[in-house]
Amino acid sequence: MSTSHKRPVTHLLQEYTPPSYLVETVDLCFRLSPTATSVTSSVRYQRHPDCTALAPLHLDGEELELLSLKLDGVALQKGDYRVSPSSLVIAKVPETFVLEMETRINPQGNTALEGLYLSSGNFCTQCEAEGFRKITYYPDRPDVMARFRVRIEAARDLCPVLLSNGNLVEQGSLDAGWHFAQWEDPFRKPAYLFALVAGDLTCVEDHFTTRSGREILLQIYVEHRNRELCDHAMLSLKKAMKWDEEVYGLEYDLDRYMIVAVDDFNMGAMENKGLNVFNSKYVLARPETATDNDFLGIEAVIGHEYFHNYTGNRVTCRDWFQLSLKEGLTVFRDQEFSADLNSAAVKRIDDVRILRQTQFPEDAGPMAHPVRPASYVEINNFYTVTIYNKGAELIRMQQTLLGKEPFNRGVRHYLKKHDGQAVTTDDFVAALEESSGRDLEQFKRWYSQAGTPRVALTTHYDQKNQEYHLLCRQTCPPTPDQTEKQPFFIPLAVGLLDRDGRDLPIIIKGQQGRQTTRILELNQAEQEFVFEQIPEGAALSPLRGFSAPVILDYPQPDEELALRMAHDSDPFNRWEAAQQLARRELLAALERESDDQPVLSELFVASWCRALVDSEADGNLLTQLLTLPSEVYLGEQMTAIDPGRIHRLRQAARCQLAQAGREQLLLRYHAGSGNELYSLDPQQVGMRSLKNFCLSLLMLQEKTSSIELCLRQYEFAGNMTDRLAALSCLVSSSLPQRETVLEDFYQR
Ligand code: SER
Ligand code: ZN
Repeated sequence: MSTSHKRPVTHLLQEYTPPSYLVETVDLCFRLSPTATSVTSSVRYQRHPDCTALAPLHLDGEELELLSLKLDGVALQKGDYRVSPSSLVIAKVPETFVLEMETRINPQGNTALEGLYLSSGNFCTQCEAEGFRKITYYPDRPDVMARFRVRIEAARDLCPVLLSNGNLVEQGSLDAGWHFAQWEDPFRKPAYLFALVAGDLTCVEDHFTTRSGREILLQIYVEHRNRELCDHAMLSLKKAMKWDEEVYGLEYDLDRYMIVAVDDFNMGAMENKGLNVFNSKYVLARPETATDNDFLGIEAVIGHEYFHNYTGNRVTCRDWFQLSLKEGLTVFRDQEFSADLNSAAVKRIDDVRILRQTQFPEDAGPMAHPVRPASYVEINNFYTVTIYNKGAELIRMQQTLLGKEPFNRGVRHYLKKHDGQAVTTDDFVAALEESSGRDLEQFKRWYSQAGTPRVALTTHYDQKNQEYHLLCRQTCPPTPDQTEKQPFFIPLAVGLLDRDGRDLPIIIKGQQGRQTTRILELNQAEQEFVFEQIPEGAALSPLRGFSAPVILDYPQPDEELALRMAHDSDPFNRWEAAQQLARRELLAALERESDDQPVLSELFVASWCRALVDSEADGNLLTQLLTLPSEVYLGEQMTAIDPGRIHRLRQAARCQLAQAGREQLLLRYHAGSGNELYSLDPQQVGMRSLKNFCLSLLMLQEKTSSIELCLRQYEFAGNMTDRLAALSCLVSSSLPQRETVLEDFYQR
């Protein structure tokens, strides 16, 4: 967040220069007080080998009161240094030296929540991206990595708990009811990963034994009243630790791992080395108050911050242009983690939804920027869906191009090669190239070109030669600062279904292999692929798994969409086909003059009913598949929007489905309402979501039997997911019970 005295400066990637002075060690001592905290620092500097003796020492600092300054033990005089609102510059320094200083800061007056601040009376820090400069004068840039030792002193009654990064090496009592703790982080880190937490917190403990047999202490610190709400977060942490060992061979590297939950926090959570700080909503949960989605959200964020320990902390960013180096990769890792533990299909659908609903508009608007921006003014404005989520798609595409195992090997190679370094997205791609032998030069355009590419497909069947021709054309609209785009390297995963919906082996003219899903590599504006030995009537399943963040133009016939809705072996694409068909019919109905004809075609209703009885499909996926596109989404597809009419027609379509599927809906509802103990087992989550979906359709008709089911579910629900689902059915009904149930829910 920029402060008023800072002049806006444009930072350019191409103007990057290495730091003139590197830091070996940092010793900090905090004497905590809400309005006047004293910070003494002793920092050992060394001139960068490539730098001249004339280079001044430039330190960042904001809103600091400088109390003393000594170089190699000698106090500096006024003329020896210059202080501005954002820096401290010392014109002449030796090749190596120790700089000691004391600064005073006001945590209570810090409402920007950057640097050291108070949250519900507890001391807490947030240093990413540039918060450390509000603690002391320091080269606050990620390519300066140092070993930190931190001593914290505070009144014991105010702050019984004193935490910082790394391992606790000493603690004890001081005069006048004060005490101290001494922390040491053996790993070099940039200042943005520094953390301090102090206050009156309670701690829930557990242990994790790494695969090499080391015992790690796990601690979650929360306010006393929240003590009972940490079980799920703790379990998620242990799952994340295990997953990273199994998938990437990465073992936790300190003796303890701490998570602190605070109410006042700008971001979701922060991966400070060994001491994560979380917004409480991503830690605290129990079934009576949290839904399945809340639980999954917590698991994902806990995983995300844990995975940063390697992708971000052990290997960090050279500068903030490289933010996606750690964020894109870590989002990708948390997506894979959630997919492995839960419904992979629904995870992918949800992630693509986020991308389409938030990143595509960003890429099409005035804020469009590349995943690796070339310039920025305020780095805090660059924590965007493009950096995070499109960044994750770039990683996913590289996995698709290399294959899962070679990709994982590549990531391990990257982490080993650059351990303890601050690097760039180019370094990441280069490591994948080295380990796999693939050339990803053209692929790198994804990092430097903004905008969502469009891929238009044209198909044509050559009956005589039994050949299926697929013509692909890619374009990318201009974005601010970039009018001309070079062709992207797009992995397009495709399948072909025969008339019965079975996957056909795909033999590509001029290439080896006959897999049923093939990755076409688009690298020119226009390309044709020919599939051989294809029987007549095959249906294309394009962009399987959403293999690239592009907009596809492929008007597929209704019958083919219906076939894919029933049979596509790629779960994402099965959902996508259902959505496309539903969207087409809903939009057509919205275009019609009058509303007296049924909204949905017989083809759609029949396909929908067939999907409803598909007992083999994952319940999570089925719920998504059977749900019609949202009103908001439909509105976005139209030029003139009439929200009332969109609502009416969508409701009419739902009634049509409810009527056609009534018996099946009831059967599925009852099959899903067992009395098992609440768990987040994906099958149980799927049963719940499908059951509640069925209930919502059954309730459209407001038959007495359905109303009874719904009221019973509301009353006897053993978890929030079921209770909330029943509540929302009742609230959107016209039943007299609405008010009493709402009042009851509020009381609970
Ligand atoms: N670096 C933090 C995170 O992504 C802040 O957003 O977890
Ligand atoms: Zn992150």
